[in-house]
Amino acid sequence: MRPRPRKRQTTIVHPAGFDGGVVRVPGDKSISHRTALLAGISSGTSEIRGFLQAEDCLNTLKAMESFGARSWIDDEGVLSIQGTGGKMIEPAGPLDVGNSGTGMRLLAGLCAGSPITVTLTGDASLNSRPMRRIKEPLELMGAQVELTPQGTAPMTIRGGKLHGMEYSLPTASAQVKSCCILAGLYAEGRTTVLEPIPTRDHTERMLRAVGAPIRVEGQNISVDGYGPKGPKFLARPYVVPGDFSSAAYWLAAAAAIPGATVRAEGVGLNLRRTALLDVLRRMGARVEIERTSAPTDPEVYGNVTVYGAELKGTEVGGAEIPNLIDELPLVAMLGALAQGRTVIRDASELRVKESDRVAVMVENLAGMGVAVAEQPDGMVVEGPAKISPTKSIRSYGDHRIAMSMSILAIFADQPVTIANVACVDTSYPEFWEQLSQLGVKVE
Ligand code: S3P
Repeated sequence: MRPRPRKRQTTIVHPAGFDGGVVRVPGDKSISHRTALLAGISSGTSEIRGFLQAEDCLNTLKAMESFGARSWIDDEGVLSIQGTGGKMIEPAGPLDVGNSGTGMRLLAGLCAGSPITVTLTGDASLNSRPMRRIKEPLELMGAQVELTPQGTAPMTIRGGKLHGMEYSLPTASAQVKSCCILAGLYAEGRTTVLEPIPTRDHTERMLRAVGAPIRVEGQNISVDGYGPKGPKFLARPYVVPGDFSSAAYWLAAAAAIPGATVRAEGVGLNLRRTALLDVLRRMGARVEIERTSAPTDPEVYGNVTVYGAELKGTEVGGAEIPNLIDELPLVAMLGALAQGRTVIRDASELRVKESDRVAVMVENLAGMGVAVAEQPDGMVVEGPAKISPTKSIRSYGDHRIAMSMSILAIFADQPVTIANVACVDTSYPEFWEQLSQLGVKVE
């Protein structure tokens, strides 16, 4: 990764400006994690274009190296991963995966079926997030998972002979689903996971692309295990599309400025990720989508253009939530700019992300002069508000809070300083550069 000085705080100048334009965002984080895992257990060397070189995914890559894979990145940013052929060796010490829930939960599933003991740990945020949700299914399959008394990491997994199972996910979580499916690859027999609500399906798509025996029937996903020797996937080329969740910041900014336009090119358009576009339309913005991927590509991608408008409030909840889970801080901030009331419900999962995103967004919106009411499973935002900071804005070390509040700061009536923004490097190190490219004045 190019060395980049870590940014501690940022000030969005007043008037901030926002010219809009064309953006190409870096690679999808969820897909990059999964690519590192699958290429890491394949036989031979896979070449990956568009891999997200941000802290979270690089930590997952490092973890795969501790299991025996090798990796290198060339001058053009193409990542090569020489896989282990399915076998996982025991790492020399604990694996620190930093800030990433995806990294920790997917790696836990991947190593649970090998005869090794692995300790996974992370930063203070990750080590406070719930991990019983993966301990339970992994132990049902035959692994042993040790957590702190609070049910958090550091987590020690004693892998072993796994057997397939049928498991109903208590919460809609792609991370837990993927953890079970990856463990299922090393199990004897069939593992079936039942989702209460469909969540992002990158793992399923990628496994299908490498020829794994995976079947999706409605909300049931089944995989036939290869047993403790693990799957025999062959190395292959991968192309990671741009991250819709990163493009979302620019699309949301444009949506709230009548006359503004942003076009995000080469971005992932998986429907389980793009519900924000439906929300932007409901709020009054115009959205155009142009698919450029081939029908044979595992993932759909293309270009999205958003044309800004006077926005009106909307409600989000139910089955839509998993499809915009990481964009909910943006929906909340758009609610502050829209005419009328915006309601977010059925989103209690937001409370166990990199921060308690319900509490933190409520605190920060209130600190910007917005009338907002906290609910157990979401919030109610009244708009349009005069965006005027009355206190300092804090990210609580959560990248999506830091970026969402930076976008809201564009609309403020004075400069806004946001503290603790180094966390942006976990998912989107180019964020500040791209913010400036789109005409926003940043100090
Ligand atoms: C992710 C799934 C989501 C999402 C996270 C990435 C993934 O978490 O919030 O940023 O890559 O599977 P949950 O599955 O726990 O909701």
